[in-house]
Amino acid sequence: MKHPRPSWTRPLAVRLALPLLAALLVIPPALLLPAAAAAQEAPASQSPRQRIAFNDGWRFHLGDPDGNSAPYLYDVRPDVKKSADGKVADAMPEEAARIARAGATVLKPWILPTGNPFIRDPSKRHARPDGDPPIDAPFARADFNDSAWRAVRLPHDWAIEGPFLTTGPYGGMGRLKTWGPAWYRNKITVTQADQGKSIFLDVDGAMAYASVWVNGRLAGGWPYGYNSFRIDLTRWLKPGTNQLAIRLDNPPESARWYPGAGLYRNVWLTKTAPLHVGQWGVRVTTPQVSAQAARVAWQVTLDNDGAAPADAEVTTQLYALDDKGRITGAAVASMTSPRAAVAAGASTTLAGEATLANPRLWGPPPHQKPHRYTAVTTVRQGDRIVDRYETPFGIRELRFDPDRGLVVNGEHVPIRGVNNHHDLGALGAAFNARAAERQLEMLVEMGANALRMSHNPPDPQLLELTDRMGIVVMDEVFDSWQRKKTPLDFHLIFPDWHEQDLRAMIRRDRNHPSIVMWSVGNEVGEQYTGEDGAAIGRELVRIAHEEDGTRPATTAMNYAKADMPLPGTMDVISLNYQGTGIRTLPGQFPAFRAKFPDKVILHTESASALSSRGEYQFPVPGVLSAAVRPGAGGDPKTQQVSSYELFAADFGSSADRAFASLDQNPYTAGEFVWTGFDYLGEPTPYYGARSSYSGIIDLAGFKKDRFYAYQARWRPELPMVHILPHWTWPERVGEVTPVHVFTSGDEAELFVNGKSQGRQKKAPYAYRLRWDFVTYEPGTIEVVAYKDGKEWARSSVKTARAPAALQASADHTSIAGDGRDLSFITVKIVDEAGLPAPRANNRVRFTVEGPAELVATDNGDATSFTSFQSPERTAFNGLVLGIVRAKLGAKGPITVRVTADGLQATTVALRAQGG
Ligand code: GAL
Repeated sequence: MKHPRPSWTRPLAVRLALPLLAALLVIPPALLLPAAAAAQEAPASQSPRQRIAFNDGWRFHLGDPDGNSAPYLYDVRPDVKKSADGKVADAMPEEAARIARAGATVLKPWILPTGNPFIRDPSKRHARPDGDPPIDAPFARADFNDSAWRAVRLPHDWAIEGPFLTTGPYGGMGRLKTWGPAWYRNKITVTQADQGKSIFLDVDGAMAYASVWVNGRLAGGWPYGYNSFRIDLTRWLKPGTNQLAIRLDNPPESARWYPGAGLYRNVWLTKTAPLHVGQWGVRVTTPQVSAQAARVAWQVTLDNDGAAPADAEVTTQLYALDDKGRITGAAVASMTSPRAAVAAGASTTLAGEATLANPRLWGPPPHQKPHRYTAVTTVRQGDRIVDRYETPFGIRELRFDPDRGLVVNGEHVPIRGVNNHHDLGALGAAFNARAAERQLEMLVEMGANALRMSHNPPDPQLLELTDRMGIVVMDEVFDSWQRKKTPLDFHLIFPDWHEQDLRAMIRRDRNHPSIVMWSVGNEVGEQYTGEDGAAIGRELVRIAHEEDGTRPATTAMNYAKADMPLPGTMDVISLNYQGTGIRTLPGQFPAFRAKFPDKVILHTESASALSSRGEYQFPVPGVLSAAVRPGAGGDPKTQQVSSYELFAADFGSSADRAFASLDQNPYTAGEFVWTGFDYLGEPTPYYGARSSYSGIIDLAGFKKDRFYAYQARWRPELPMVHILPHWTWPERVGEVTPVHVFTSGDEAELFVNGKSQGRQKKAPYAYRLRWDFVTYEPGTIEVVAYKDGKEWARSSVKTARAPAALQASADHTSIAGDGRDLSFITVKIVDEAGLPAPRANNRVRFTVEGPAELVATDNGDATSFTSFQSPERTAFNGLVLGIVRAKLGAKGPITVRVTADGLQATTVALRAQGG
């Protein structure tokens, strides 16, 4: 199919082509309104819509009744004959196994209809079978007594508690058992005031294969664990108390990383009038943007769940938001549509637009600010306000320029990004906004401006954060299509669900200004299947365009070459590793550039460099980039990788080598480094471990040396210089101990105990300065960096004596008492003079006094099997982390006491701020 030229490549003045809509009413552009004209906004309290957090009061149980899962299976699953654990990440995905389905009763026919709103062709939608599935589900029944089940608060990841599976083929999934059925139960009360309303269960994410039961009956479900979904509960609920049960069934061998398990994101109850804005029913675009004026266009989809036709009048008002996302000032535009009739049981889409003078644009710092607006939709039926719905958005113009890459509001924005998985280290997959914000703050400190959601839709709150912080995002939906990477991954449901899952992600996320492109896949097996694979790519891109014509769609390719069919189906050429070059294969940027001169080329995964924070191994090879090998970057006995930051996955490269390949091909749009943070699972190269080695920052959130390689490149204006390794090597006196330096300067001089080791200048395409023949002697090493011949920054490292004391500091000393906010306590082991003891591994204990609790601890050691819930753990190379949460509603002082045998103890004073 031939598409019209997409908006992101068009000259500014050309109008965006809106997708065809059934009942589209285009309303003339509003006049610029004086602020006082905005008189028609409905106070939220007048609207029947309620969005109620439904995170409390849950009961939880692992396993099915009598341990028999057969009756509750979504579908027959193939037998797992061989584990995929430890398979190299870029191995070719395999063909799906054939499964015999004859005779099996499965729940799929009752679940599939939940996805109908996301299937475009009505003839392909699924009819619910007559009657209920022929099974008895005692755990779903109202009369089942769940008082012995565990009480939990959402978000909840049941797998993070462990214990770690210390042996066996479980490294890939983080050595934590995430698989097997789990049930959650809660009650829903339908009051008099709810009579006649539509009531929905909105789940931001459930891992995985959710089936939702109301009063013992199966209402629907959603298999893919990363998407948000809605179950219409209206027909299943009765007045009074109702029993809700959600069954989840994560398969084993379902991922190449730790997926988490459970109701790991927020759950909501949404109540509306029968005539209401549909799910993700408002879409805002900004088809023309300049500093002087912006056209803002919207489409509002109204659902009429009532039994009679309804006449609807829709008012849309635009407001500026402040940096906390609060409405500020009067409406900047207001418009009411002509009345529209919505038939009973039908939907209608209304459209309108306004032109704003002097819009405050959304753009990434440091040169731009992420200003936002919100569209407030008020729906009236007769004189009654029946709905009020807010849709935050941003006004910005995106262009993709094949010679430069991303251009936001006319400014070229080189992509300085990282990939992150969704887990939050010791907290597991249970989403926590403060933990995610802390990660983003560290990435911004490093100079990052971009995030790739590898390889699945994130918690919606993460996109709220990226919008607010001005971080550009690649939102990605799948890691596999029809071909499999692990025996029971998403490929099992791709044929039935890819359309629904892709449309659901885009419909949910398309108003976020931070998202600049959609990714429909990652290193999929269809790279290898020629035209057949390309046909799937084409279909997914078509769906993405139908849902959102304002952003390009892409898929990350590590294998497909410029002359193969798949790349040509994508709007943007996204390469994993092969831009730099994989193994002996030379860099592929020039070949793609020659073949696709009109497309932007991006490194969606770069580097995959590996290291363990604070571990240094000798001798240090005189290379710039090498695969980890025993004795050369890696130690199979300790399962640690050297932090000289020269070593990588077999198909990867050091940061330095990836930088050179981008700089030598200056038309490239930039990179997403694999990865910003270490994550649970995929512990290449040592599958005996629990977590990855690829993070620039470790699992606990402690910076590795690599952090400074990126900071030096991404924040060239920041005077900084960083030295590695540490300088506490009593066993190395007289031995060659290389010293490497990352700096935003262009030259540096190294001194060992005041003696110059020479001054060095960065060579072209070199990103570190190295003194490879330094002889170790205890004392001080100091580096003085220069830029343009003038002193720019200096730094020193001193030899520490024996560990003597603990030092602790909190990222936040004031914690909200909302039961979610966290304080991250970094504990450092120091010597008697207060110098960091870089190899200390003392056992550290946390105790919390006051209205708070210790949620988790970590030390960033990929090989540690101490439970994340343990209040006690050994330091890893001098550092330990404790995570503290104030109790719900708590107010008052909190003292965190940190002790270790033989070391001077310390305390940190925090304060809970009340609910
Ligand atoms: C890539 C893959 C990522 C991850 C990475 C590990 O091949 O896309 O998901 O596996 O390698 O370095």
